[in-house]
Amino acid sequence: MAKLRLAVMISGSGTNLQALIDACADPDYPAEIQVVISNRPDAGGLLRASKAGIKAVVIDHKKFEDRESFEDALHVCLKDHQTQLVCLAGFMRILNAEFVNRWRDRMINIHPSLLPSYKGLNTHARAIEDGVRFSGCTIHYVRPEMDNGPILMQAVIPIAPDETPESLATKTLTYEHQMYPAAVKLIADGNVRISAGKVVFKDTELGETGLISPLI
Ligand code: GRF
Repeated sequence: MAKLRLAVMISGSGTNLQALIDACADPDYPAEIQVVISNRPDAGGLLRASKAGIKAVVIDHKKFEDRESFEDALHVCLKDHQTQLVCLAGFMRILNAEFVNRWRDRMINIHPSLLPSYKGLNTHARAIEDGVRFSGCTIHYVRPEMDNGPILMQAVIPIAPDETPESLATKTLTYEHQMYPAAVKLIADGNVRISAGKVVFKDTELGETGLISPLI
């Protein structure tokens, strides 16, 4: 079967990109990365792509007059690579509704919180500050409203008494790295559809075990 053609969009170190690169190295994995796009010329993920022999393109938002022309360039690049699924992986630019709607149901994002809680930035610090017992991370389809859209996969992560934003970020990333390749595989295997604004799976076991913290 033909592999699902991915484009991964990044702005930073690209550890989630690395998780996808590693997954795609398995000949049986049903997706392959056609292109990595960064809006920042200094993004660490660019080196990860070139080390893996994957085409990496810089589309620097600062070189464009406005958001529309920047997004047009992104769109052309995605089209040029016959992208079937766009994976946002630490891509730190807000995307206009027009661009998002062009890729509707073909673009996913990873966010370091249990959405719909803690949209936006500094999720770990805010969760710790609020004293919640659990944080987590979410992979969701992208909609024009930031950090919104049908939820595909989530991990729930207990917050330790001595947690810092840094320790929680490190912990969370290990779950992100497991989830992103798994979520892409679900889509590539044709296991996912969106119905009435929610993700529905064809043939996937959902977790049933609840968590309590502190333990009782
Ligand atoms: C991750 O925490 C992801 O959830 C958020 O941005 C970060 C990207 O990290 N959207 P990396 O560049 O993949 O290491």
